[in-house]
Amino acid sequence: MTARRHDRTVDTRVNAAAWNAIARQDRTSTDRAEVVPARMEWTHRPGTGPGAELLGDVRGARVIELGCNRGDNLAHVATLGPARTVGLDVAEDCVAQARARWAHVPGIAWTTGEAGDFLAASRETYDVVYSIFGALWYTDPERLLPRVRERLAPGGLLAFTVSAARPGALHGARVDNLTLGTGVRMPVVHYAYDAAGWHDLLARHRFIVERSIDVPTRDGAGHRALVFTARAA
Ligand SMILES: C[S@@+](CC[C@H](N)C(=O)[O-])C[C@H]1O[C@@H](n2cnc3c(N)ncnc32)[C@H](O)[C@@H]1O
Repeated sequence: MTARRHDRTVDTRVNAAAWNAIARQDRTSTDRAEVVPARMEWTHRPGTGPGAELLGDVRGARVIELGCNRGDNLAHVATLGPARTVGLDVAEDCVAQARARWAHVPGIAWTTGEAGDFLAASRETYDVVYSIFGALWYTDPERLLPRVRERLAPGGLLAFTVSAARPGALHGARVDNLTLGTGVRMPVVHYAYDAAGWHDLLARHRFIVERSIDVPTRDGAGHRALVFTARAA
C-alpha cells in the first residue's frame, strides 16, 4: 500500500500546537505534584495489558521516552532504578506540566524537542527508547526509526504503542483532530500502519521484533492498539 508523507516541519508545528492547547486547558488541575502511578500503561485501557516489565530490568539503564506528554509513565519508570531518564516532548506546555507534576521524582531530565531532531543532534546512547502513542505515532517512522537505531546502545530495546491503521486504509500520514473542552478542533498528523506494515518498517530499519501485541481499544469501534518491542539487528 502507498505510504503518504508530509513535510516534517508541518507535522511538528501542527502537532505541537494541538498538544500545547490540550496542556493549557488542563493547566489549572495538573500543574502540581502528583502521586506516582502504581503502573505503567501501554494502552488506553488502564490496568490491562503489560506494565513496566515490558521494558525488562531498567536498573542502571539510560531510558528516554519520545512524546512523554505529562510524564505519568516516565515518573513510574524513574522509580525503578534507571541511571538516567529523559522525558522528551515537542510541546513545551506539556513539558512544563511534567516538570511541575514530577519535581519530587529525582533523576528525570524533562526536555522540549522534536524526537527525530533531538536524536539526530544527540551524542548520548540509550538502553531503552520507548514511546506510547507518542513520536512513533505522530511523526514519519521512516525518518525516526533510523535515528532511534543510531542512538540505541548495543542490545538496547525499542518499545512503543501506536494505533493500528484501519483495515484497508492507506499507510502513512493522515490528519485527525483533537477536540478541546471548548469544542474547538485542533488538527493533528498521525502515521498509521497495520501490524504487517510495522513488521516491514522495523525489518527494513534493521530491528528484530521481540513482541507484538494487538489490543482492542476501549471504544469497541474496531480501533486497535499495537504494542511492539524490538532490538537492533
Ligand atoms: C498521546 S500523547 C502521549 C502520551 C504519553 N506517552 C503517556 O503515555 O502519557 C502524545 C504526545 O506526543 C508528543 N509528540 C508528538 N509528536 C512528537 C515528536 N515528533 N517529538 C516529540 N514529541 C512528540 C505530543 O506533543 C504529545 O504530548
